[in-house]
Amino acid sequence: MSMNERIILAKRPEGLPDESVFTFEEQPLPEPKDREVLVKTLYLSVDPYMRGRMSDAKSYAKPYDVGQVIGGGAIGRVVESSDPQCRVGDYVTGNWGWQRYAAVSTSKLRKINPELAPVTTALGVLGMTGLTAYFGLLDIGQPQSGETVVVSGAAGAVGMVVGQIAKIKGARVVGIAGSDEKIKYLVEELGFDKAINYKTEDVALALAEACPDGVDVYFDNVGGDVSDAVLRLINKNARIPICGQIALYNLEKPDTGPRTQSLLLTNTALMKGFLIGDYTERYNEALHELAEWVRDGKIQYVENIVEGFEKTPEAFLGLFSGENLGKQLVKVSEGEA
Ligand SMILES: NC(=O)c1ccc[n+]([C@@H]2O[C@H](COP(=O)([O-])OP(=O)(O)OC[C@H]3O[C@@H](n4cnc5c(N)ncnc54)[C@H](OP(=O)(O)O)[C@@H]3O)[C@@H](O)[C@H]2O)c1
Repeated sequence: MSMNERIILAKRPEGLPDESVFTFEEQPLPEPKDREVLVKTLYLSVDPYMRGRMSDAKSYAKPYDVGQVIGGGAIGRVVESSDPQCRVGDYVTGNWGWQRYAAVSTSKLRKINPELAPVTTALGVLGMTGLTAYFGLLDIGQPQSGETVVVSGAAGAVGMVVGQIAKIKGARVVGIAGSDEKIKYLVEELGFDKAINYKTEDVALALAEACPDGVDVYFDNVGGDVSDAVLRLINKNARIPICGQIALYNLEKPDTGPRTQSLLLTNTALMKGFLIGDYTERYNEALHELAEWVRDGKIQYVENIVEGFEKTPEAFLGLFSGENLGKQLVKVSEGEA
């Protein structure tokens, strides 16, 4: 092993990205500096938010630079270290992005214990997406027993956990997702009360049937027409955590949907955007509870693992056509150090 391979942003996409947005390049292996370790990537995360960072529009996160490696969550093993805090062979997670090796400061790594849970969970149910579900639902949505919770993007990494936490809290849960296989999974395997295929059903009609008592909490992962339909059913004092708007991420022109302020006003509803990065102080508390729910079988998780570093762009693009059930990951190499 003397060369590294990285995936860089070749150009900024317009509309739906394709593979031409990415270039593979080889570079000499990075040499760790003081307090850095050399990490070999085992798994990479691909996430919808990465689409936003490929554009240079103003946003909460700095855009990726053209010509630079695509940043994002990863899991790896330390292969070279002079820092006793982080030994060769340790499993770690960090944000070194789409590359086979990286020299990373130990202050930017979190160690993971493979004996507590499969390491991949550190990028999913016990990582960023699980935390997003936890805080968005419990902090903003605050579902009460007997209430109706609707979640869009329900069969994805965040949505699947949202629905299951809402069930733990005694709510009635309705999921919206994009294939019959996903709908079946949500109802039969995860215990959702109802699930709606937004690609084949009349969403407004199906929702009205699925939510005879209206909607108390709407966890919005997608935006667009699906969310417009849910908002028409909100109850008094409804809570609407705005987590993501994937239906809008590839639009080339701004989309003017219905103006919803009147609905929020007359229902005295709360709609609030949130970013998981604002909850870092409380991650440990949430991870503890999520791990307990996973261990007790109250939360099940699914990972859609594509094999091969070269498949990373394809796995990312698949998020926009709904190829994934659960958390989308890429397996880059075997676990041996
Ligand atoms: N606020 C935060 O801090 C935060 C953190 C993490 C994620 N997010 C957001 O949360 C959402 C879910 O993220 P995730 O990581 O869990 O991804 P994910 O749900 O695992 O994957 C994306 C899913 O979105 C659905 N989708 C794609 N295009 C769509 C469209 N035009 N309309 C409706 N659904 C569409 C697809 O499923 P179908 O088959 O159902 O179409 C796809 O599987 C994203 O919007 C993401 O940006 C926000």
